[in-house]
Amino acid sequence: MSREQIVLTREELDLQQEYAQRVRQIYRDRLPRQPLACVTTFGCQQNEADSELIRGMLIDMGFGLTDDERRADLLIFNTCAIREHAEMRVFGNVGQTSHYKKENPDLVICVCGCMPQQPQVADKIKQSYPYVDIVFGTHALWQFPRLLYRRLTEKKRVFDISGDQQGRILEGIRPVRKEGPAAWLSIMYGCNNFCSYCIVPYVRGRERSRDPQVILRELKELVDEGYRDITLLGQNVNSYGLDREDYPDFAGLLELCNNVPGDFRIRFMTSHPKDATPRLFETMARCEKVCHAIHLPVQCGSDRVLREMNRRYDVKRYLELVDYARKCMPDLTITSDIIVGFPGETEEEFRETLELLERVRFDSLFTFIYSRREGTRAASMPDPVSRQEKQRWFDRLLQVQNRISREKNAEYVGRTVEVLVDGVSEDPDFDLTGRTRGFKLVHLRGGRELIGRTVEAEITRSSTVALFGKVKA
Ligand code: SAH
Ligand code: SF4
Ligand code: F3S
Repeated sequence: MSREQIVLTREELDLQQEYAQRVRQIYRDRLPRQPLACVTTFGCQQNEADSELIRGMLIDMGFGLTDDERRADLLIFNTCAIREHAEMRVFGNVGQTSHYKKENPDLVICVCGCMPQQPQVADKIKQSYPYVDIVFGTHALWQFPRLLYRRLTEKKRVFDISGDQQGRILEGIRPVRKEGPAAWLSIMYGCNNFCSYCIVPYVRGRERSRDPQVILRELKELVDEGYRDITLLGQNVNSYGLDREDYPDFAGLLELCNNVPGDFRIRFMTSHPKDATPRLFETMARCEKVCHAIHLPVQCGSDRVLREMNRRYDVKRYLELVDYARKCMPDLTITSDIIVGFPGETEEEFRETLELLERVRFDSLFTFIYSRREGTRAASMPDPVSRQEKQRWFDRLLQVQNRISREKNAEYVGRTVEVLVDGVSEDPDFDLTGRTRGFKLVHLRGGRELIGRTVEAEITRSSTVALFGKVKA
């Protein structure tokens, strides 16, 4: 497929706009007021960013947005398939909506995103959730206006999980972003890595990079609109540009972003260790807007398990990367993801993960118990260790990491750090929350006028998950 067909064309967008206008007219004829839509998002930042596009399309179709499911005329569940638990939560939430449908038969219920991109899940929704009206996968996202139009004009339920695995690059849909100083900026879509446990490459299609000029234009707009903390998004940002000869690589893109004038911070996620380069860390160190923070998922500390996971690096290489990164940026914060209980993992191999934690001393971790995903390579591997045993490993892992996180955070007490204030604290003793350049959560006392501003804060206390302090006059 040629590039031109990958990027959404003007004609395709215009057609969706036409459908959007028709939907608008239908609701005008049917309702004496503006229709309301409620979007619920599960999963990762990619899904959050997709929901921002969905909200953009909803505005085009004349909807108002609400967080109250009971007031909505249209419910949208943008779903995640990464683990069984995530899927069960979605089914639980969708199950609830049958009540709303009884109260309001005109309610339209829509399930989209990563879950229904798997045919067996789309089938399950078809069979077991008859009150769900529209089902579409990640590849059909941009066709949402057409699908809604069809549901409103035809008697049938609408299913669209088509789309080839290449996937498209969505340009021209205006996202509606959340409030606050932080914004997501997608730089690429999809994943080529096929880690043996992971469903993402199956539900998100192949890696495809957005045009750097388009990314830079969007970045400038975000800065002009007042966003101060911009996260470049992709499943594996380190392979940005590798699909195109005429694009810069990720380090090059970071540098271009850094050259955009304005007072803002740049972050990115997620970085795959196999594609992380020394040049990336050197670029991070040199570019003053790029935060000294990296999420570098290691997954486990055993070379054998890493091989079985198809991660394509070993512990030695990972440690070399971390050491070099810290040499370039002594103040770097490093976070990671760990899976415990991968099929065939032994107690001994699990202990190697604990050793890795002690060696690296991550600032914090996202930890998961392995979840079998239908269709992945690991799903057919023997998995003899019991769930209870895995839970015990998981608890030990948390204990170790909590101690390390607590110790690392305690190092900040007495220091003055730069904090971008981003919202209101839920801690009754504090007023505001913010983030350091290393993305540490800080609770602060101070007036709401500081939201969106950068302040110098003295850290007076710390916990496992946060820092506490006061704004310096
Ligand atoms: N692209 C990112 C990760 C995206 S998914 C990367 O490779 O770094 C986020 C995390 O979910 C993964 O890093 C992994 O730790 C976890 N995960 C993915 N599939 C899983 C599964 N089947 N069971 C448990 N955890 C899983
Ligand atoms: Fe999944 Fe691996 Fe791709 Fe991350 S890099 S999304 S873990 S397949
Ligand atoms: Fe989940 Fe899809 Fe993200 S499976 S983690 S929402 S890419």
